[in-house]
Amino acid sequence: MDVAMATVSSPGADRALGAGRGLRVIHVGVLGLGNVGQAVVRAAAASADVLRRRGLALSIDSALVRDVTKPRRCPRAGRLTSNVEAFMRGRFDVVIDALPGREPAAAIAGRLLGKGIPVVSANKVLIAADGRRLRRLAARAGTSLRIEAAVMAGVPFVGAFERRPLAAHVTRVAGILNGTSHFILSRIAAGAPFDVALAEAQALGYAEPNPDADVSGRDAREKLVVLADVLFGCAVRSASIVAEGIAGITPDALASAASLGGALKPIVFAARAAACAQEDGLPASSTAARALTAFAAPAWVPASHPLAAITGRDNAVVIDSRFSGRLVFAGPGAGPDVTAATLLDDAIEAAGDETKGESRIRTSHSVSVRAPETGWFVRITGERAPVKTAFVDLQIRAADLTVEKHRADSRGISLLISPAAADRVRAVRSALAAQGLTARVWRALHD
Ligand code: NAP
Ligand code: HSE
Repeated sequence: MDVAMATVSSPGADRALGAGRGLRVIHVGVLGLGNVGQAVVRAAAASADVLRRRGLALSIDSALVRDVTKPRRCPRAGRLTSNVEAFMRGRFDVVIDALPGREPAAAIAGRLLGKGIPVVSANKVLIAADGRRLRRLAARAGTSLRIEAAVMAGVPFVGAFERRPLAAHVTRVAGILNGTSHFILSRIAAGAPFDVALAEAQALGYAEPNPDADVSGRDAREKLVVLADVLFGCAVRSASIVAEGIAGITPDALASAASLGGALKPIVFAARAAACAQEDGLPASSTAARALTAFAAPAWVPASHPLAAITGRDNAVVIDSRFSGRLVFAGPGAGPDVTAATLLDDAIEAAGDETKGESRIRTSHSVSVRAPETGWFVRITGERAPVKTAFVDLQIRAADLTVEKHRADSRGISLLISPAAADRVRAVRSALAAQGLTARVWRALHD
Protein backbone atom coordinates (compact mmCIF):
# COMPACT_ATOMS: atom_id res chain seq x y z
CA MET A 1 0.00 0.00 0.00
CA ASP A 2 1.21 3.47 -0.85
CA VAL A 3 0.03 6.75 0.66
CA ALA A 4 1.05 10.13 -0.72
CA MET A 5 1.42 12.23 2.42
CA ALA A 6 2.80 15.42 0.92
CA THR A 7 4.91 16.61 -1.96
CA VAL A 8 7.32 14.00 -3.21
CA SER A 9 10.64 14.91 -4.84
CA SER A 10 10.10 17.28 -7.79
CA PRO A 11 11.83 20.38 -9.19
CA GLY A 12 8.99 22.50 -7.76
CA ALA A 13 9.38 20.94 -4.31
CA ASP A 14 13.15 21.46 -4.46
CA ARG A 15 12.64 25.13 -5.37
CA ALA A 16 10.32 25.50 -2.39
CA LEU A 17 13.11 24.10 -0.17
CA GLY A 18 15.60 26.63 -1.54
CA ALA A 19 17.22 24.97 -4.58
CA GLY A 20 18.17 27.73 -7.03
CA ARG A 21 18.75 30.07 -4.08
CA GLY A 22 22.10 28.51 -3.29
CA LEU A 23 20.81 25.63 -1.18
CA ARG A 24 21.75 22.05 -1.95
CA VAL A 25 18.73 19.80 -1.42
CA ILE A 26 19.57 16.32 -0.08
CA HIS A 27 16.89 13.75 -0.91
CA VAL A 28 16.46 11.26 1.90
CA GLY A 29 14.61 7.95 2.17
CA VAL A 30 13.79 6.54 5.61
CA LEU A 31 13.40 2.83 6.38
CA GLY A 32 11.08 2.53 9.38
CA LEU A 33 9.00 5.25 10.97
CA GLY A 34 8.88 4.02 14.58
CA ASN A 35 10.47 5.76 17.56
CA VAL A 36 13.68 6.52 15.69
CA GLY A 37 12.31 7.09 12.16
CA GLN A 38 9.72 9.58 13.40
CA ALA A 39 12.40 11.39 15.40
CA VAL A 40 14.45 11.61 12.18
CA VAL A 41 11.57 13.35 10.40
CA ARG A 42 11.01 15.68 13.37
CA ALA A 43 14.74 16.49 13.57
CA ALA A 44 14.93 17.15 9.82
CA ALA A 45 12.15 19.74 10.20
CA ALA A 46 13.60 21.23 13.39
CA SER A 47 17.11 21.59 11.94
CA ALA A 48 16.08 23.42 8.74
CA ASP A 49 17.49 26.79 9.88
CA VAL A 50 20.78 25.31 11.10
CA LEU A 51 21.24 23.44 7.82
CA ARG A 52 20.22 26.44 5.71
CA ARG A 53 23.12 28.38 7.23
CA ARG A 54 25.36 25.62 5.89
CA GLY A 55 23.79 25.80 2.43
CA LEU A 56 21.79 22.58 2.88
CA ALA A 57 18.15 21.51 2.91
CA LEU A 58 16.77 18.06 3.63
CA SER A 59 13.85 16.58 1.73
CA ILE A 60 12.42 13.43 3.32
CA ASP A 61 11.01 11.95 0.14
CA SER A 62 9.74 8.58 1.24
CA ALA A 63 9.44 6.26 4.24
CA LEU A 64 8.98 2.49 4.32
CA VAL A 65 6.78 1.09 7.11
CA ARG A 66 4.79 -2.07 7.84
CA ASP A 67 1.42 -0.40 8.30
CA VAL A 68 0.70 2.86 6.49
CA THR A 69 -2.52 3.41 8.44
CA LYS A 70 -0.80 3.79 11.84
CA PRO A 71 -0.86 7.30 13.31
CA ARG A 72 2.61 8.92 13.35
CA ARG A 73 4.07 11.51 15.71
CA CYS A 74 6.01 13.49 13.13
CA PRO A 75 5.39 16.06 10.40
CA ARG A 76 3.98 14.74 7.16
CA ALA A 77 6.91 13.62 5.05
CA GLY A 78 7.07 12.47 1.45
CA ARG A 79 5.50 9.20 0.43
CA LEU A 80 4.67 6.59 3.07
CA THR A 81 4.68 3.06 1.72
CA SER A 82 4.72 -0.53 2.86
CA ASN A 83 5.79 -1.64 -0.61
CA VAL A 84 9.55 -2.20 -0.89
CA GLU A 85 9.51 -1.90 -4.70
CA ALA A 86 7.71 1.46 -4.50
CA PHE A 87 10.29 2.65 -1.97
CA MET A 88 13.15 1.47 -4.20
CA ARG A 89 11.88 3.68 -7.03
CA GLY A 90 12.79 6.78 -4.98
CA ARG A 91 15.66 8.95 -6.25
CA PHE A 92 17.55 9.28 -3.00
CA ASP A 93 20.90 10.88 -2.22
CA VAL A 94 20.99 8.81 0.95
CA VAL A 95 18.78 6.34 2.83
CA ILE A 96 18.48 6.15 6.62
CA ASP A 97 17.83 2.68 8.06
CA ALA A 98 15.72 2.71 11.24
CA LEU A 99 14.30 -0.79 10.84
CA PRO A 100 14.57 -3.42 13.56
CA GLY A 101 16.39 -6.72 13.02
CA ARG A 102 18.32 -8.28 10.18
CA GLU A 103 15.60 -8.59 7.53
CA PRO A 104 14.26 -6.93 5.50
CA ALA A 105 16.99 -4.37 6.35
CA ALA A 106 19.86 -6.48 4.94
CA ALA A 107 18.16 -7.14 1.62
CA ILE A 108 17.08 -3.51 1.15
CA ALA A 109 20.43 -2.03 2.25
CA GLY A 110 22.21 -4.42 -0.13
CA ARG A 111 20.05 -3.30 -3.05
CA LEU A 112 20.49 0.40 -2.26
CA LEU A 113 24.27 0.15 -1.85
CA GLY A 114 24.46 -1.92 -5.03
CA LYS A 115 22.79 0.99 -6.84
CA GLY A 116 25.41 3.36 -5.40
CA ILE A 117 23.06 4.96 -2.84
CA PRO A 118 24.73 5.54 0.55
CA VAL A 119 23.04 3.94 3.55
CA VAL A 120 23.19 5.19 7.12
CA SER A 121 22.08 2.70 9.78
CA ALA A 122 21.12 2.66 13.46
CA ASN A 123 20.44 -1.06 13.25
CA LYS A 124 23.16 -2.92 15.16
CA VAL A 125 21.59 -6.34 14.50
CA LEU A 126 22.10 -5.66 10.80
CA ILE A 127 25.59 -4.22 11.20
CA ALA A 128 26.82 -6.96 13.55
CA ALA A 129 25.63 -9.67 11.15
CA ASP A 130 26.08 -8.08 7.71
CA GLY A 131 28.16 -4.93 8.18
CA ARG A 132 31.36 -6.22 6.60
CA ARG A 133 29.56 -7.73 3.60
CA LEU A 134 27.58 -4.52 3.07
CA ARG A 135 30.69 -2.39 3.38
CA ARG A 136 32.42 -4.45 0.69
CA LEU A 137 29.34 -4.08 -1.48
CA ALA A 138 29.36 -0.32 -0.91
CA ALA A 139 33.04 -0.10 -1.82
CA ARG A 140 32.45 -1.98 -5.07
CA ALA A 141 29.58 0.37 -5.94
CA GLY A 142 31.59 3.49 -4.99
CA THR A 143 29.39 4.48 -2.10
CA SER A 144 29.39 4.19 1.71
CA LEU A 145 27.68 2.55 4.66
CA ARG A 146 27.72 4.62 7.85
CA ILE A 147 27.00 3.19 11.27
CA GLU A 148 27.60 5.96 13.80
CA ALA A 149 24.12 5.59 15.36
CA ALA A 150 24.41 1.82 15.79
CA VAL A 151 26.72 2.08 18.83
CA MET A 152 26.32 4.76 21.55
CA ALA A 153 23.61 6.33 19.43
CA GLY A 154 24.01 9.92 20.63
CA VAL A 155 27.82 9.97 20.83
CA PRO A 156 29.61 10.48 17.51
CA PHE A 157 32.87 8.55 17.80
CA VAL A 158 32.80 5.46 15.55
CA GLY A 159 33.48 7.50 12.39
CA ALA A 160 36.56 9.08 13.94
CA PHE A 161 38.07 5.64 14.55
CA GLU A 162 37.11 4.45 11.08
CA ARG A 163 39.12 7.32 9.58
CA ARG A 164 42.07 7.37 11.99
CA PRO A 165 44.28 4.28 11.88
CA LEU A 166 46.56 5.31 14.76
CA ALA A 167 43.80 6.09 17.26
CA ALA A 168 42.09 2.92 16.06
CA HIS A 169 45.06 0.76 16.95
CA VAL A 170 43.28 -0.48 20.03
CA THR A 171 44.40 -3.05 22.57
CA ARG A 172 41.39 -3.04 24.90
CA VAL A 173 37.91 -1.60 25.21
CA ALA A 174 35.53 -1.59 28.17
CA GLY A 175 32.15 0.08 28.02
CA ILE A 176 28.50 0.43 28.82
CA LEU A 177 26.67 0.04 25.52
CA ASN A 178 23.05 -0.62 26.39
CA GLY A 179 21.06 2.38 27.56
CA THR A 180 17.96 0.43 28.60
CA SER A 181 19.67 -2.01 30.99
CA HIS A 182 21.81 0.78 32.42
CA PHE A 183 18.72 2.97 32.92
CA ILE A 184 16.90 0.06 34.59
CA LEU A 185 19.77 -0.55 37.05
CA SER A 186 19.84 3.15 37.95
CA ARG A 187 16.08 3.06 38.58
CA ILE A 188 16.33 -0.16 40.63
CA ALA A 189 19.04 1.50 42.76
CA ALA A 190 16.55 4.33 43.34
CA GLY A 191 13.90 1.84 44.51
CA ALA A 192 11.85 1.15 41.35
CA PRO A 193 10.79 -2.46 40.65
CA PHE A 194 12.33 -4.05 37.53
CA ASP A 195 9.04 -4.11 35.55
CA VAL A 196 8.29 -0.47 36.30
CA ALA A 197 11.80 0.57 35.26
CA LEU A 198 11.53 -1.42 32.02
CA ALA A 199 8.15 0.15 31.24
CA GLU A 200 9.70 3.59 31.76
CA ALA A 201 12.57 2.74 29.38
CA GLN A 202 10.01 1.60 26.80
CA ALA A 203 7.91 4.74 27.20
CA LEU A 204 11.02 6.88 26.70
CA GLY A 205 11.80 5.00 23.46
CA TYR A 206 15.10 3.56 24.73
CA ALA A 207 14.18 -0.12 24.52
CA GLU A 208 14.26 -2.36 21.47
CA PRO A 209 10.92 -3.47 19.99
CA ASN A 210 11.65 -6.73 21.85
CA PRO A 211 13.34 -5.58 25.09
CA ASP A 212 14.71 -9.08 25.77
CA ALA A 213 17.66 -8.04 23.61
CA ASP A 214 18.36 -5.15 26.00
CA VAL A 215 18.01 -6.92 29.33
CA SER A 216 19.72 -10.17 28.26
CA GLY A 217 22.95 -8.49 27.14
CA ARG A 218 22.39 -9.43 23.47
CA ASP A 219 22.03 -5.82 22.28
CA ALA A 220 25.28 -4.83 24.02
CA ARG A 221 26.99 -7.91 22.56
CA GLU A 222 25.95 -6.93 19.02
CA LYS A 223 27.39 -3.46 19.58
CA LEU A 224 30.60 -5.06 20.85
CA VAL A 225 30.79 -7.10 17.64
CA VAL A 226 30.52 -3.84 15.67
CA LEU A 227 33.26 -2.26 17.79
CA ALA A 228 35.50 -5.33 17.43
CA ASP A 229 35.42 -4.71 13.68
CA VAL A 230 36.05 -0.95 13.93
CA LEU A 231 38.59 -0.95 16.78
CA PHE A 232 40.41 -4.27 16.42
CA GLY A 233 39.84 -5.13 12.76
CA CYS A 234 38.40 -8.41 14.03
CA ALA A 235 35.43 -10.20 12.52
CA VAL A 236 33.60 -11.85 15.39
CA ARG A 237 30.41 -13.90 15.50
CA SER A 238 27.95 -12.59 18.11
CA ALA A 239 27.30 -16.07 19.44
CA SER A 240 30.98 -16.53 20.27
CA ILE A 241 30.82 -13.83 22.98
CA VAL A 242 29.39 -14.69 26.40
CA ALA A 243 26.32 -12.51 27.05
CA GLU A 244 24.61 -12.22 30.43
CA GLY A 245 21.75 -9.95 31.38
CA ILE A 246 20.68 -7.89 34.33
CA ALA A 247 17.91 -10.23 35.53
CA GLY A 248 18.20 -10.86 39.24
CA ILE A 249 20.20 -7.74 40.06
CA THR A 250 18.47 -6.49 43.20
CA PRO A 251 18.79 -3.27 45.21
CA ASP A 252 20.69 -5.44 47.72
CA ALA A 253 23.27 -6.47 45.07
CA LEU A 254 23.71 -2.85 43.95
CA ALA A 255 24.10 -1.65 47.53
CA SER A 256 26.63 -4.36 48.36
CA ALA A 257 28.62 -3.49 45.20
CA ALA A 258 28.76 0.06 46.54
CA SER A 259 29.82 -1.18 49.99
CA LEU A 260 32.90 -2.71 48.34
CA GLY A 261 33.80 0.70 46.90
CA GLY A 262 32.40 0.35 43.40
CA ALA A 263 29.32 -0.18 41.23
CA LEU A 264 27.68 -3.03 39.34
CA LYS A 265 27.21 -2.04 35.68
CA PRO A 266 26.18 -3.76 32.42
CA ILE A 267 29.67 -3.97 30.90
CA VAL A 268 31.13 -5.00 27.57
CA PHE A 269 34.81 -5.83 27.39
CA ALA A 270 37.18 -6.90 24.63
CA ALA A 271 40.95 -7.12 24.49
CA ARG A 272 43.51 -8.52 22.14
CA ALA A 273 44.64 -11.85 23.52
CA ALA A 274 48.03 -10.98 22.03
CA ALA A 275 49.34 -7.76 20.55
CA CYS A 276 48.67 -7.43 16.87
CA ALA A 277 50.70 -9.47 14.44
CA GLN A 278 52.81 -6.69 12.95
CA GLU A 279 54.12 -5.42 16.28
CA ASP A 280 54.93 -8.79 17.72
CA GLY A 281 56.36 -10.15 14.54
CA LEU A 282 53.71 -12.87 14.70
CA PRO A 283 52.53 -14.25 11.39
CA ALA A 284 49.10 -12.72 10.66
CA SER A 285 47.71 -16.24 10.50
CA SER A 286 48.89 -17.23 13.99
CA THR A 287 46.19 -18.03 16.51
CA ALA A 288 47.67 -15.66 19.09
CA ALA A 289 47.55 -12.76 16.66
CA ARG A 290 43.93 -13.39 15.94
CA ALA A 291 42.32 -14.05 19.29
CA LEU A 292 40.19 -11.73 21.39
CA THR A 293 38.96 -12.10 24.93
CA ALA A 294 35.51 -10.61 25.36
CA PHE A 295 32.28 -10.63 27.35
CA ALA A 296 29.03 -8.70 27.63
CA ALA A 297 27.76 -9.07 31.20
CA PRO A 298 27.16 -7.15 34.40
CA ALA A 299 30.45 -6.48 36.19
CA TRP A 300 31.69 -4.66 39.28
CA VAL A 301 33.95 -1.67 38.62
CA PRO A 302 35.75 0.37 41.30
CA ALA A 303 34.48 3.89 42.01
CA SER A 304 37.69 5.26 40.44
CA HIS A 305 36.86 3.64 37.06
CA PRO A 306 35.48 6.05 34.42
CA LEU A 307 32.48 3.73 33.90
CA ALA A 308 31.45 3.88 37.59
CA ALA A 309 30.30 7.50 37.33
CA ILE A 310 28.03 6.94 34.29
CA THR A 311 24.31 6.79 35.14
CA GLY A 312 20.86 6.39 33.59
CA ARG A 313 20.57 5.74 29.86
CA ASP A 314 24.07 7.13 29.29
CA ASN A 315 26.71 4.95 27.66
CA ALA A 316 30.50 5.17 27.69
CA VAL A 317 33.55 3.46 26.26
CA VAL A 318 37.07 3.45 27.66
CA ILE A 319 39.45 2.67 24.85
CA ASP A 320 43.13 1.85 25.33
CA SER A 321 44.90 2.71 22.12
CA ARG A 322 48.55 1.88 21.46
CA PHE A 323 49.30 5.33 20.03
CA SER A 324 46.69 7.55 21.69
CA GLY A 325 46.71 6.19 25.23
CA ARG A 326 43.41 5.95 27.11
CA LEU A 327 40.40 7.60 25.46
CA VAL A 328 36.97 7.96 27.08
CA PHE A 329 33.75 8.73 25.20
CA ALA A 330 30.47 9.13 27.07
CA GLY A 331 26.97 10.43 26.49
CA PRO A 332 23.41 9.40 25.67
CA GLY A 333 23.42 5.85 24.35
CA ALA A 334 19.72 5.50 23.59
CA GLY A 335 16.74 7.69 22.80
CA PRO A 336 14.99 8.54 19.55
CA ASP A 337 16.00 12.21 19.42
CA VAL A 338 19.72 11.75 20.02
CA THR A 339 19.77 8.83 17.59
CA ALA A 340 18.00 10.93 14.96
CA ALA A 341 20.59 13.71 15.26
CA THR A 342 23.42 11.23 14.73
CA LEU A 343 21.64 9.61 11.77
CA LEU A 344 21.03 12.95 10.08
CA ASP A 345 24.64 14.07 10.57
CA ASP A 346 25.76 10.73 9.09
CA ALA A 347 23.31 11.17 6.22
CA ILE A 348 24.53 14.70 5.44
CA GLU A 349 28.14 13.52 5.55
CA ALA A 350 27.41 10.48 3.38
CA ALA A 351 25.49 12.53 0.79
CA GLY A 352 28.45 14.89 0.40
CA ASP A 353 31.20 12.29 0.69
CA GLU A 354 33.63 12.86 -2.16
CA THR A 355 35.82 9.95 -1.04
CA LYS A 356 32.85 7.57 -1.27
CA GLY A 357 33.83 6.17 2.09
CA GLU A 358 37.22 4.91 0.89
CA SER A 359 38.97 6.06 4.07
CA ARG A 360 36.69 3.70 6.04
CA ILE A 361 37.56 0.57 4.15
CA ARG A 362 39.76 -1.85 6.04
CA THR A 363 40.39 -5.52 6.25
CA SER A 364 39.03 -7.48 9.17
CA HIS A 365 40.28 -10.94 10.13
CA SER A 366 38.06 -13.65 11.54
CA VAL A 367 39.11 -14.31 15.10
CA SER A 368 38.38 -16.73 17.87
CA VAL A 369 36.95 -15.35 21.11
CA ARG A 370 37.14 -16.63 24.65
CA ALA A 371 36.03 -15.18 27.97
CA PRO A 372 38.84 -13.40 29.85
CA GLU A 373 40.07 -14.31 33.31
CA THR A 374 38.70 -11.44 35.42
CA GLY A 375 38.15 -10.70 39.05
CA TRP A 376 34.77 -11.59 40.59
CA PHE A 377 32.18 -9.89 42.75
CA VAL A 378 30.26 -12.41 44.85
CA ARG A 379 27.17 -11.66 46.91
CA ILE A 380 26.16 -14.42 49.33
CA THR A 381 22.82 -14.35 51.07
CA GLY A 382 20.77 -16.95 52.88
CA GLU A 383 19.65 -17.81 56.32
CA ARG A 384 22.17 -16.54 58.87
CA ALA A 385 24.63 -15.87 56.04
CA PRO A 386 26.98 -13.65 58.09
CA VAL A 387 27.59 -16.33 60.68
CA LYS A 388 28.62 -18.71 57.93
CA THR A 389 31.63 -16.59 57.04
CA ALA A 390 33.99 -19.32 58.21
CA PHE A 391 32.37 -21.80 55.83
CA VAL A 392 32.58 -19.35 52.92
CA ASP A 393 36.24 -18.86 53.76
CA LEU A 394 36.79 -22.59 53.65
CA GLN A 395 35.25 -22.94 50.21
CA ILE A 396 37.18 -20.00 48.81
CA ARG A 397 40.43 -21.48 50.05
CA ALA A 398 39.53 -24.93 48.76
CA ALA A 399 39.11 -23.42 45.28
CA ASP A 400 42.44 -21.61 45.68
CA LEU A 401 40.83 -18.20 45.20
CA THR A 402 42.13 -15.00 46.75
CA VAL A 403 39.70 -12.65 48.48
CA GLU A 404 40.79 -9.06 47.95
CA LYS A 405 38.08 -7.49 50.05
CA HIS A 406 34.99 -8.59 51.91
CA ARG A 407 32.09 -7.04 53.82
CA ALA A 408 29.55 -8.81 56.03
CA ASP A 409 26.23 -7.15 56.78
CA SER A 410 22.87 -8.16 58.23
CA ARG A 411 21.71 -9.67 54.91
CA GLY A 412 24.83 -11.45 53.75
CA ILE A 413 28.47 -11.34 52.74
CA SER A 414 30.06 -9.58 49.74
CA LEU A 415 33.45 -10.54 48.34
CA LEU A 416 35.84 -9.31 45.71
CA ILE A 417 37.93 -12.16 44.36
CA SER A 418 41.18 -11.82 42.41
CA PRO A 419 41.21 -12.83 38.71
CA ALA A 420 40.36 -16.49 38.25
CA ALA A 421 38.75 -18.80 35.71
CA ALA A 422 34.95 -18.86 35.84
CA ASP A 423 34.71 -22.58 36.66
CA ARG A 424 36.57 -22.14 39.97
CA VAL A 425 34.12 -19.48 41.09
CA ARG A 426 31.22 -21.65 39.94
CA ALA A 427 32.55 -24.51 42.06
CA VAL A 428 32.39 -22.29 45.14
CA ARG A 429 28.86 -21.25 44.24
CA SER A 430 27.75 -24.88 44.06
CA ALA A 431 29.35 -25.73 47.41
CA LEU A 432 27.61 -22.76 49.04
CA ALA A 433 24.28 -23.71 47.49
CA ALA A 434 24.60 -27.15 49.07
CA GLN A 435 24.72 -25.35 52.45
CA GLY A 436 21.56 -23.34 51.71
CA LEU A 437 23.43 -20.17 50.79
CA THR A 438 22.67 -18.30 47.58
CA ALA A 439 25.78 -16.93 45.87
CA ARG A 440 25.31 -14.49 43.01
CA VAL A 441 28.46 -14.05 40.99
CA TRP A 442 29.40 -11.24 38.61
CA ARG A 443 32.67 -10.31 37.01
CA ALA A 444 34.87 -7.52 38.41
CA LEU A 445 37.06 -5.21 36.31
CA HIS A 446 39.69 -3.26 38.18
CA ASP A 447 41.04 -0.86 35.54
P1 NAP B 1 10.29 0.74 16.35
O1 NAP B 1 9.72 1.88 17.12
O2 NAP B 1 9.79 -0.62 16.59
O3 NAP B 1 10.11 1.09 14.78
C1 NAP B 1 10.40 0.18 13.79
C2 NAP B 1 9.84 0.70 12.46
O4 NAP B 1 10.18 -0.23 11.44
C3 NAP B 1 8.33 0.87 12.43
O5 NAP B 1 7.99 2.05 11.76
C4 NAP B 1 7.86 -0.35 11.63
O6 NAP B 1 6.69 -0.08 10.86
C5 NAP B 1 9.02 -0.55 10.69
N1 NAP B 1 9.11 -1.95 10.27
C6 NAP B 1 9.33 -3.03 11.04
N2 NAP B 1 9.38 -4.15 10.29
C7 NAP B 1 9.16 -3.74 9.02
C8 NAP B 1 9.08 -4.42 7.78
N3 NAP B 1 9.20 -5.76 7.71
N4 NAP B 1 8.85 -3.70 6.66
C9 NAP B 1 8.71 -2.35 6.73
N5 NAP B 1 8.78 -1.65 7.88
C10 NAP B 1 9.00 -2.34 9.01
O7 NAP B 1 11.89 0.68 16.56
P2 NAP B 1 12.86 1.91 16.92
O8 NAP B 1 12.98 2.05 18.41
O9 NAP B 1 12.48 3.07 16.10
O10 NAP B 1 14.27 1.33 16.44
C11 NAP B 1 14.57 1.26 15.07
C12 NAP B 1 16.00 0.81 14.87
O11 NAP B 1 16.89 1.75 15.50
C13 NAP B 1 16.32 -0.54 15.53
O12 NAP B 1 17.23 -1.24 14.73
C14 NAP B 1 16.98 -0.13 16.86
O13 NAP B 1 17.85 -1.12 17.35
C15 NAP B 1 17.76 1.08 16.40
N6 NAP B 1 18.12 2.03 17.46
C16 NAP B 1 17.18 2.44 18.34
C17 NAP B 1 17.53 3.39 19.30
C18 NAP B 1 16.53 3.87 20.30
O14 NAP B 1 16.92 4.63 21.21
N7 NAP B 1 15.27 3.50 20.18
C19 NAP B 1 18.83 3.92 19.33
C20 NAP B 1 19.75 3.46 18.38
C21 NAP B 1 19.39 2.53 17.45
P3 NAP B 1 5.28 0.23 11.56
O15 NAP B 1 5.48 1.52 12.29
O16 NAP B 1 4.32 0.36 10.44
O17 NAP B 1 5.03 -0.93 12.47
N1 HSE C 1 17.78 -0.37 22.93
C1 HSE C 1 19.05 0.27 22.76
C2 HSE C 1 19.61 0.64 24.09
C3 HSE C 1 18.89 1.47 21.89
O1 HSE C 1 18.85 0.70 25.08
O2 HSE C 1 20.81 0.90 24.20
C4 HSE C 1 20.20 2.09 21.49
O3 HSE C 1 20.92 1.23 20.66
